[in-house]
Amino acid sequence: MSTSVIILAAGKGTRMRSSLPKVLQPLAGRPLLGHVIETAKKLKADHIITIYGHGGDRVQQAFAQDQIEWVEQAEQLGTGHAVQMTLPVLPKAGMSLILSGDVPCVSVDTLERLLSASNETGIGLVTLTLDNAAGYGRIVRKNDQIQAIVEHKDANEEQRQIKEINTGIYCVSNAKLQQWLPQLDNNNAQGEYYLTDIVAMALKDNLSIASVQPNMAFEVEGVNDRIQLAALEREFQNFQAQQLMQQGVHLIDPKRFDLRGQLKVGQDVCIDINVIIEGDCEFGDGVQIGAGCVIKNTRIAAGTQVKPYSIFDHAIVGERAEIGPFSRLRPGAELSDEVHIGNFVEVKNTRIGTGSKANHFTYLGDAEIGIDSNIGAGTITCNYDGAFKHKTVIGNQVFIGSNSSLVAPISIGHGATVGAGSVITQNVEDGSLAFERAKQMSKANYQRPQKVKK
Ligand code: UD1
Ligand code: MG
Repeated sequence: MSTSVIILAAGKGTRMRSSLPKVLQPLAGRPLLGHVIETAKKLKADHIITIYGHGGDRVQQAFAQDQIEWVEQAEQLGTGHAVQMTLPVLPKAGMSLILSGDVPCVSVDTLERLLSASNETGIGLVTLTLDNAAGYGRIVRKNDQIQAIVEHKDANEEQRQIKEINTGIYCVSNAKLQQWLPQLDNNNAQGEYYLTDIVAMALKDNLSIASVQPNMAFEVEGVNDRIQLAALEREFQNFQAQQLMQQGVHLIDPKRFDLRGQLKVGQDVCIDINVIIEGDCEFGDGVQIGAGCVIKNTRIAAGTQVKPYSIFDHAIVGERAEIGPFSRLRPGAELSDEVHIGNFVEVKNTRIGTGSKANHFTYLGDAEIGIDSNIGAGTITCNYDGAFKHKTVIGNQVFIGSNSSLVAPISIGHGATVGAGSVITQNVEDGSLAFERAKQMSKANYQRPQKVKK
């Protein structure tokens, strides 16, 4: 049977006070709507239909890579009106899950349970019991059976005492949506076409209404303002941190850990506080990440130690390497095993062979470095001539003396030595020593200028 996912995303999100449409606001580094689309994909939905309104172009652009059917709701006349807009493209048969673009955390498991419960009845919803239910639509039951959803603004005093709320997540047969939606009216406190009125229509058709509860309350939390966004971010981060700890990761403090993407881990990975991990990352067995690191789309192999405040972006690091503190690995940094990169060393588009070291104040860009070479403090690969980038090739067992400039294109042969303070502009042969310095001048008994004390 075909499953469609309908996502309501036409709201303006006035309370965010942002030029960005609400459903594009990021949670854990991904737009709110992106989370919902990801969930729809995991459910293997046959159709993902998204209803857009405000900022439609930007919203569609943000998901240009995804297979989405976009439906416009030019005027926001209510949730029922929004779903009505999908009827021309909705398959005639099958079931639809109806989700909100601003409720990003609903889980695949909860939705699968909703789908199977609703399959039997033709309609079901996700409900939740809250201590403070103010503002939400209330679930009215008689003998346990759902009788109605009453919006807070339409509810009487007795109904407002009800703690079971409508989360705004539904599953309905497409045939029934085709039948019911055209019958909605807007005779209510808000003058809107309420999607929730389909409950009364289902009862008229003698259907019973299935309901399921989410595994965790934060799954159904919506985002209307930045305070709710920040609160949900923490809850989501806490959830991810717990999953990682269950996989055996040692998080020194899960409250000070942020994952904005995916992290694959081996055994006994230890992550100190205030680390941010973005995109797709992978840490092998025993990898240790020091405090304050920012690591994006990077693979770090087993046994490597990363000291505090190091920054990685699209880098690959081998086994038993030592990185940091204060290292910066940029796109195309590929480090073999046992490489050491120390403080204030920047590596970009550079491969470094096993056991090589650059421990202090260095820029390595567009370079290839062999094995067991030592790059002295303050070495710079001068890769840019103002217009073009050029390559530096450094062989095995090379020693580059401190404060040297290697002006690319250039090649330093195996076993070569470069004297400290050199500006090297010509290739250096295997095994040779190259240095380039002004001759040292000395003046005996030199008297420095002195201030005259008044
Ligand atoms: C809705 C439910 C309420 C439920 C609550 C859960 C109705 C009538 N009420 O109320 O029972 O407790 O959600 O959060 O459905 N939207 C559109 N087009 C519109 C109106 C809304 O796309 O014309 C989108 C919004 O952007 C939002 C979602 O639908 O993503 C829910 O709309 P909202 O106005 O927040 O509904 P509530 O009044 O909160
Ligand atoms: Mg709402």
